[in-house]
Formats: sequence, structure tokens, C-alpha cells
Amino acid sequence: MKNIVITGGAGFIGSHVVRLFVNKYPQYNIINLDKLTYAGNLANLKDIEDKPNYKFVKMDICDFEAFYQLMQDEKIDGIIHLAAESHVDRSIKDPFTFARTNVMGTLSLLQAAKLYWESLPEKYEGKRFYHISTDEVYGALKMNHPEGIEPPFKTVASSEGHKAYGDDFFYETTKYNPHSPYSAAKASSDHFVRAYHDTYGMPTIVTNCSNNYGPYQFPEKLIPLFINNIRHRKPLPVYGKGENVRDWLYVEDHARAIDLIFHEGKIAETYNIGGFNEWKNIDLIMVMIKTVDRILGNPEGASLDLITYVTDRLGHDARYAIDSTKLQKELGWEPSLQFEEGIEKTVRWYLDNQEWMDNITSGEYEKYYEEMYKGR
Ligand code: NAD
Ligand code: DAU
Repeated sequence: MKNIVITGGAGFIGSHVVRLFVNKYPQYNIINLDKLTYAGNLANLKDIEDKPNYKFVKMDICDFEAFYQLMQDEKIDGIIHLAAESHVDRSIKDPFTFARTNVMGTLSLLQAAKLYWESLPEKYEGKRFYHISTDEVYGALKMNHPEGIEPPFKTVASSEGHKAYGDDFFYETTKYNPHSPYSAAKASSDHFVRAYHDTYGMPTIVTNCSNNYGPYQFPEKLIPLFINNIRHRKPLPVYGKGENVRDWLYVEDHARAIDLIFHEGKIAETYNIGGFNEWKNIDLIMVMIKTVDRILGNPEGASLDLITYVTDRLGHDARYAIDSTKLQKELGWEPSLQFEEGIEKTVRWYLDNQEWMDNITSGEYEKYYEEMYKGR
């Protein structure tokens, strides 16, 4: 029996990780610990909420006392830490919340876990603190091949005609160089996690993943926001010229990597997770428009007029591209889904789950969204 806390389990990636663990490991106790901020949504977990090996606990990761008590009450052996403020645009408007949750919250979990595990006769034996981070901590890569070149690597996830837009990639050895308040806070939390290994011998692992897409993503992020706006014939706010590059991975492939690394990853290691699947935003937006229009039965190109170029994001990172060779070679992880299939599945999911979307985008969120785009 293993007692595992998954933080941020009511969010986008966390809900996929919770679902995978609850279904795959009936012998584990899975505790989903989440504060339920605007981004947390228990509707993401309707299908598993009644399983006997699942429990939800509403808690703020910054509440050290409460988490220390939970560690003792539930005899926690493993922590998979996803809870965070995750949206770059919000971090530009409100950096304090990002420092509080992402830095102080992570530190609070680390310290509570350390105190509890050190109090046990077996101490750190069989224990694990796994911190989920992002490729954004590495900074931005150069776009020195704006037309794209033949990439050095390919995986199942790579799109058809897959290109690389620069010579360099993010490796596990790449120096941290975060630019946004979000990535600065994530970088700081990564450093704290590693410091707890190096100083106290805590069994930690850190992974850095590229952009995820798929069902249950909060519609402030590019893909769900644009699918929903196309459906409702609302403007599609493209930042700058739409030339920034992101490297996209289907969320269930990230969840499978987390499962593998939690069980088989080496303590104190870092693993990059990504599918070698670079896309310029504008090209991806064209694919979304085409796919949504086809599925809704609109004439081809009917939604192209929704594209609206708006003021660029401050400090907008040019290009992210992750090298996940280490994870593939050392642990045998492979993405399962090609990007074209993943996008088709994702568009269909959002169009089929309009109620899930409407519950989020009505009311208070509607006001926030209007405020966010005022003046852009
Ligand atoms: P999300 O915003 O969808 O979910 C975050 C979850 O954390 C929510 O359920 C929220 O309620 C919870 N939370 C926030 N503050 C909390 C607090 N103080 N206490 C307890 N719970 C709190 O985020 P996501 O996109 O699922 O990202 C999950 C993790 O993965 C984050 O750590 C993020 O940095 C990382 N990550 C995300 C991506 C991506 O593309 N989305 C890529 C790489 C890494
Ligand atoms: O790289 C991993 C990161 O990916 C994660 O760590 C973050 O938590 C996650 O939010 C994501 O960050 P991005 O900033 O890359 O994702 P976002 O969906 O916000 O934006 C993707 C790209 O699209 C980015 O270049 C900005 C652009 N964009 C975004 C929005 C919301 C637009 O052009 N218009 C928009 O309205």
C-alpha cells in the first residue's frame, strides 16, 4: 500500500495524473490536495470521484501546519507536486500570488515532508518528492531558422512535416534563465526542491515539460480559448505576429511520463519531457480554425476573419523546444499520439463538452476575460 498526495489534482494536468493513478493503482491511496482556485475544478474528476482509493482534500499548499498534519494522518510516502499558478499572462499582472504559491507553497510542502519523513524509523527509505516543472525555466531559444529546418529528432508526437525553428534545444543541462514572473517563480521552486536533496538528502526528482494540450485545460490558455472563441464567433487574440514557437505534447502522454518517472526515475535527477513537436502559434491557429470549421460543418475558412492581431505579451519568449532524449533512452518513454490525432481529439472533446466550458466561461470569469483583453 502506498499513500500518495497529488497536489493540484483538480487542475488540467493534475486531473489527468489523478485519473491515471486512481485507475491504474487500486492498491494505492490517492489523495488529491487542491485549494480550488479559479483553475481548480472537481468536475474534471467526475468519473473517478467515487473510487475507494481516491480522496479529495481542500487545502492551500502554503498552509504548512495543515499539510504537516496530513502527512502524519495519512502516512504519506509519495508527493507528486503539480499545484501552482500556471498562467503567464496572470503572472505579469499579479506576480505576488505566483511567488506565494509557487515558491512559498513548494517550500512549505518540502519542509513538512522533511519533518515527517525524518521522524520515521525508516526515514527517507521508499519515499519520494516529485516536483513537476516547466521548460519555461530555461528561458527562450533563438528563432534562427524562421522558415524551419529538418529537425535532428522525431517522435510519435511530431507533426507531419515537422520542423525545427532553431539549432538549439533545451537540455537537462541548460542553464536556468527564466523571463516571466511565472517562470521565475517556477525556477525558484525547482531550486528549493534540489536544495532539499543536496542539503538534507531528501529523495527528490524534478521534471521540466513543454506545453501540454488536451481535455480539461482552463480556457485562458491558447488552445481551449481559441476553440471556444471559434465556436462562438468571438475574436481570436493573436499576440504580436503569431510567430512565437511552442512545443506541444498531449496531456495524457505527460501523465504517463509522470507515472513512469515517479516509479522508475532516479533520485536527484532531472528529466525533460516533450514530443519534438514545434509549432508557430499562427500555424497552429490555422489548424484549429480548419478543424473546428470542418467539425461544425462551416465552409472552409469561415472563421479566418476572427483572427485579430493584438499587442504582444510583455517579454514574450520567442521559442521553446525541448530535448527529451534522456527520458526516452533511460526510461523508455515514448509519446503515444501524433499531434494531428491529438488536436482532432482535443477539438472534438471541447465541442462535445460545451457544458463543462459554459460552466467556466459564464459569470465571474466572463468579467475577468473582458478585463484581460480591454485595450488590446
Ligand atoms: P492549472 O492552472 O490547470 O492547475 C493548477 C491547480 O493547482 C488548480 O487545480 C489549482 O486549484 C491548484 N492550486 C493553485 N494554487 C494552489 C494552492 N495555493 N494550494 C493548493 N492548490 C493550488 O495548471 P496545469 O496547467 O495543470 O499545470 C500543473 C503543473 O504543471 C504546474 O506546476 C505547471 O507549472 C506545470 N506545467 C504545466 C504545463 C502546461 O502546459 N500546462 C507544462 C509544463 C509544466
Ligand atoms: O511551456 C510550458 C508552459 O506552457 C507551462 O509552464 C505554462 O503553465 C502553460 O501555461 C504554457 O505557457 P504558454 O505561455 O506557452 O501557454 P499559453 O497557452 O498561454 O500561450 C501559448 C502561446 O500562444 C504563447 O506564445 C502566447 C500565445 N497566445 C496565448 C494566448 C492565451 C496568444 O497568441 N493569444 C492568446 O490569447
